[in-house]
Amino acid sequence: MKLYGVVGAGGFGREVMPFVQETLAASHEEEEFEAVFVVEFGDTGVVNSHRVLSTDQFLADSGEKHFTVAISDSQVRERISRKFIRRAATPFSASALNSVCMSGNTVGEGAILCAFTTITSNAQIGRFFHANIYSYVAHDCRIGDFVTFAPNVHCNGRIVIEDHAYLGTGAILREGAADQPIVIGRGAVVGMGAVVTRSVAPGTTVIGNPARVMEKRPG
Ligand SMILES: CC(C)(COP(=O)(O)OP(=O)(O)OC[C@H]1O[C@@H](n2cnc3c(N)ncnc32)[C@H](O)[C@@H]1OP(=O)(O)O)[C@@H](O)C(=O)NCCC(=O)NCCS
Repeated sequence: MKLYGVVGAGGFGREVMPFVQETLAASHEEEEFEAVFVVEFGDTGVVNSHRVLSTDQFLADSGEKHFTVAISDSQVRERISRKFIRRAATPFSASALNSVCMSGNTVGEGAILCAFTTITSNAQIGRFFHANIYSYVAHDCRIGDFVTFAPNVHCNGRIVIEDHAYLGTGAILREGAADQPIVIGRGAVVGMGAVVTRSVAPGTTVIGNPARVMEKRPG
């Protein structure tokens, strides 16, 4: 029996599991598989008809084990992915059946592409990418590892997004030029609803329209 673990049984994990189950059922007609939640902490048992295993239970299973990490914190995602790969689990990507990936794209292992997401053409996307519902990545974008799109992110053409960046719900990014792409720096955060017209420095948070660096509160 092959085990497919969705790591995380929080809100996002419970949103991802239905299409993991659906796509596995479509691709494993004659092969036995089980889709389970895997949690580092908290209760095991059953959630939405799927068994919940602890990390140790999952990794100790003697059969073939595949996993994806449905946790939006990218640092946690990286830590878990390293640990699971070290313990002989293999990453799998989960794409909702109505997500669209057009032509010439490369998407790294462990990606989660939720319902109504679109990747158009010639985008390069790194490992463990999350595209939450209704987000899109347009032509010629280059996206690093452990990047997170909340719902409804509009990532227009020729944008570069570095590792561990987070884009909040409804963020809109202006398209870049071939010789001067808009760059969202490593670990930057784009707040929900922001309209990004310029590059964002690594590690900074921007909000608003047009997006500006969010001032830190004193204290
Ligand atoms: C930008 C963001 C990361 C800042 O979070 P934070 O550091 O906890 O900031 P706070 O909530 O303390 O807000 C600080 C101030 O900025 C304002 N603010 C926060 N986010 C904002 C946004 N996206 N746009 C405009 N103003 C915003 C708050 O109203 C607050 O203003 P005030 O000081 O006048 O009261 C966060 O608000 C955000 O947008 N996160 C993305 C959420 C999301 O998309 N979740 C998806 C779940 S699937």
